[in-house]
Amino acid sequence: MSEGVRTSLSDAAGIAEAAPLLALERLPDGGFAEAAATIDGDAESLLLYREGERVRAWLNICPHAGRRLDWAPGQFLKSRDGLLVCAAHGASFELDGGVCVAGPCRGEALRAVAVSVRDGAVWLD
Ligand code: FES
Repeated sequence: MSEGVRTSLSDAAGIAEAAPLLALERLPDGGFAEAAATIDGDAESLLLYREGERVRAWLNICPHAGRRLDWAPGQFLKSRDGLLVCAAHGASFELDGGVCVAGPCRGEALRAVAVSVRDGAVWLD
């Protein structure tokens, strides 16, 4: 036993969770980005959307058929009228609550993930 060693697996996990999802400067106003996160012990892809200084996040999973929303990693479609469009079959989501307003899963919603902006970065809450 070494009394001088203070790290442990749980400490290492704590350090990993203390990292931000993304620097805010990498997320343009009105734009999207993808970030990886561990949620409830599972590795997940998140969709981040920035509106001014506010950032919203959802799981990168479409409620229609469970596919990713992006057409390539981190590449999301936005319609002219400001909707997120799933690359698989075209479901369109409003970007306030993540509700599908047109397409095959109309009325269903993306699963929101709580995030906040501080110190110039986006963090899981
Ligand atoms: S999986 Fe998104 S519209 Fe079908």
